[in-house]
Amino acid sequence: MRFGFTLSIALSVAIVLYVFISLFSPQTGLSGVSVVGDEVLLPLPTRVTSIPVEEAVLLRKSVREWARSPITISQLSMLLWASQGVVEEVDGWLRRAAPSAGATYPLEIYVIVGEEGVSLGDGSYVVAGVYKYDYKRHSMKLIREGDVREGLWRASLRQDWVREAPVSLVICAIYERTTWRYGERGVRYVHIEVGHVGQNIYLMSAALGLGTVAIGAFHDDEVAGVIKAQQREHPLYVFPVGVPQTPHETSFKELQELYSRLRR
Ligand SMILES: Cc1cc2nc3c(=O)[nH]c(=O)nc-3n(C[C@H](O)[C@H](O)[C@H](O)COP(=O)(O)O)c2cc1C
Repeated sequence: MRFGFTLSIALSVAIVLYVFISLFSPQTGLSGVSVVGDEVLLPLPTRVTSIPVEEAVLLRKSVREWARSPITISQLSMLLWASQGVVEEVDGWLRRAAPSAGATYPLEIYVIVGEEGVSLGDGSYVVAGVYKYDYKRHSMKLIREGDVREGLWRASLRQDWVREAPVSLVICAIYERTTWRYGERGVRYVHIEVGHVGQNIYLMSAALGLGTVAIGAFHDDEVAGVIKAQQREHPLYVFPVGVPQTPHETSFKELQELYSRLRR
């Protein structure tokens, strides 16, 4: 009787410990990513391509057809870093990958991860859902679990490349961060800034052999609803990202031939 009681106590303690450990201990995959509770600590930025910037500019192209393939967590890490990641600390300030008027940094990035959209390199995938990028920790935090690509597609005027991409980045602006300093002109600055970030996403995608397309046509309120944006966050741009169905190939030789025709 007493033995049975002790055994059931021991079993309960073991179960509670197991649940606690699996919820809160980091799970480290092959790619250096760790998942702690609702936070995905991304692999730290590093040199992953051998494509010089001029080749990335040459290769940049809007892509709307994807291979049935996930992107990797390292690729997602590099895309997020290029969009809003930290590049340097100066006098206690964190400078980021894209310029910002008066370093007011009004932009926030949400990540929509589809089912089996981001591979962790060990045969498993990032849980499908909506995440928010934390630039300081270079991590993403789960906001909403589940594959919401259908909702994002509907909100984006049913553009199929949005539903079919394994991942989309949604860039939102908090205008007040810039307008408190610059007044109405701050609105212009925020819109210029989102273009800088968009170009970084295009160039990093090209360098990584991925494809993306800038999406400006969508219903703002619906996109905000899908990502559960906070009240002051206004969606400005959506970037579906994936492995292109057909790799884009071109060369400076071809370009030079084009220019010589154009100069005739
Ligand atoms: C502000 C802006 C909004 C855009 N919106 C969309 C869009 O909603 N859907 C889409 O398929 N492409 C969109 N594009 C992509 C353009 O169609 C594309 O950049 C253009 O056709 C030139 O092609 P390229 O990017 O391959 O050079 C947008 C581009 C910009 C700059």
